[in-house]
Amino acid sequence: LTAGPLTGRHVLITSGPTHEPIDPVRYIANRSSGAQGTAIARAARRAGARVTFVTGPADAPLPEGCTIHRVETARQMHETVTQALPADVAIFAAAVADWRVSNAAASKMKKTAGGLPQLEFAENPDILACVSTRADRPGLVIGFAAETDDVVANAITKRRRKGCDWIVANDVSDGTGIMGGTENAVTLVTETGTEDWPRAGKDVVAERLIARIAETLR
Ligand code: C5P
Repeated sequence: LTAGPLTGRHVLITSGPTHEPIDPVRYIANRSSGAQGTAIARAARRAGARVTFVTGPADAPLPEGCTIHRVETARQMHETVTQALPADVAIFAAAVADWRVSNAAASKMKKTAGGLPQLEFAENPDILACVSTRADRPGLVIGFAAETDDVVANAITKRRRKGCDWIVANDVSDGTGIMGGTENAVTLVTETGTEDWPRAGKDVVAERLIARIAETLR
């Protein structure tokens, strides 16, 4: 472990998508690659932090030197995050499914002539909101907001609604190439205002976020 501005700090990071089963072979997912969360974990390690990395089934290679927990569903992610507390900083970069299939089948659903599956949904726990409102919450709780419309306005509302300290907002509209891509263009929303960061590699955005965190904790 290298010494750095986050030496002695525990940083908890969620990353990647979640998978919500429909039956044993099918699931609902999203386009998150886990690249931004992984880049943040690497940057936190370089800054000397002890890092707990809770990831859904992501494409990105796992970050080295972290305590890794692999999960599949939002509910598993919630349970694992809760057990990993306390932390000094929590960064919620995962693209958690808002809903799960409440009538998931125990065996593979069969195609029947003229029949269509009737999926029913239940709301998943909001991990970020739950952690933000705990009495023993980390001193700095950071959420992400991937939006296709009114990105910054939605992020400002989201910061208040979820009770977190910062929101890293990004535009994931078709054509930006951000979700699943190597670059990100974000707006940091804090209690004091908003800052547009220039479009850059996800590793550069990660480095800047970690530097900003270290400055705030100092
Ligand atoms: O509401 P929305 O899904 O856009 O919020 C995104 C932020 O909330 C991200 O930081 C994401 O990791 C977190 N989140 C969560 N649990 C959920 C849904 C979102 O932690 N069930």
